[in-house]
Amino acid sequence: MRPPADAIGTLALIVGVIAALIFVGVEAALVYAIWRYRASRNPTGEPAKFENNRRLEIAWTAAPALILAVIFVLTLGTMAEINGAGVAPTMRIAATSHQWWWEFGYGGTKTANELHIPVDTPIDLDLTSVDVIHSFWVPELGPKMDMLPGTTNHLRLFARRAGSFDGQCAEFCGVEHAWMRIRVIVQSQAEFDSWLAAQRSPAATQGGEGERVFLSNICVNCHAIAGTKAKGTAGPDLTHVASRATLGAGVLPNDAARMRAWLLDPQRYKPGSLMPRVPLSDADLDALAAYLGALK
Ligand code: CUA
Repeated sequence: MRPPADAIGTLALIVGVIAALIFVGVEAALVYAIWRYRASRNPTGEPAKFENNRRLEIAWTAAPALILAVIFVLTLGTMAEINGAGVAPTMRIAATSHQWWWEFGYGGTKTANELHIPVDTPIDLDLTSVDVIHSFWVPELGPKMDMLPGTTNHLRLFARRAGSFDGQCAEFCGVEHAWMRIRVIVQSQAEFDSWLAAQRSPAATQGGEGERVFLSNICVNCHAIAGTKAKGTAGPDLTHVASRATLGAGVLPNDAARMRAWLLDPQRYKPGSLMPRVPLSDADLDALAAYLGALK
């Protein structure tokens, strides 16, 4: 199969060419009529009448109907193609939208905001939302698809080359709608397999001071870290948070300084986000930032 975005691109090109031909034809007829029937050539004033010309009326009804029928059939074919066209997906990934971040589930293992998929492999996303309506959209890979609470929609993804493809929530979903970025990382099958194996393993660091700070504060109400007793589900799973490129669904690059700044005051960078400001001493903040920054 080919990437759904390619199928959409081909259809858009065909419709664009048809529309351009109609535009040129109509404008040419208009310019010709203005020239041919100008007043200096037709001094009598009254133009010819076209009432009750059955052949003309049938022609200008049938021609647009035929053009629209052709576009309709092409669109049905494209819709079937971008939905998978009978090709079974090699893999299903659960995608859940939250205000304002994305959760991607790989059979029990969860990650956030960065979706990893293998190249040249048909993937089906099972899309749903836990709160309001969001819309998954990575333009280079496929169409938009709404994510609705209580409903599961499906979206076929297929990427022909490895790389990083950015997307964005495409349905206004609240104050931080703009900071609801998606990054799809398309990898070779071997790279993807080793990424997934690493994601499935529990957190690397155990028992340090930062872990103590994490587990003894309200962090655990919303976040999970596999291998600890933190099992919150309202916020992103942090088991491998340091393996991700950004914080806050794209709002900050993920490095040591930004991690600390984010923990100090998330509302400064993402006002309205459900992550509260947690009062911590400087020493606790340092330890927590170092702990989370080591969760590769
Ligand atoms: Cu989520 Cu807009």
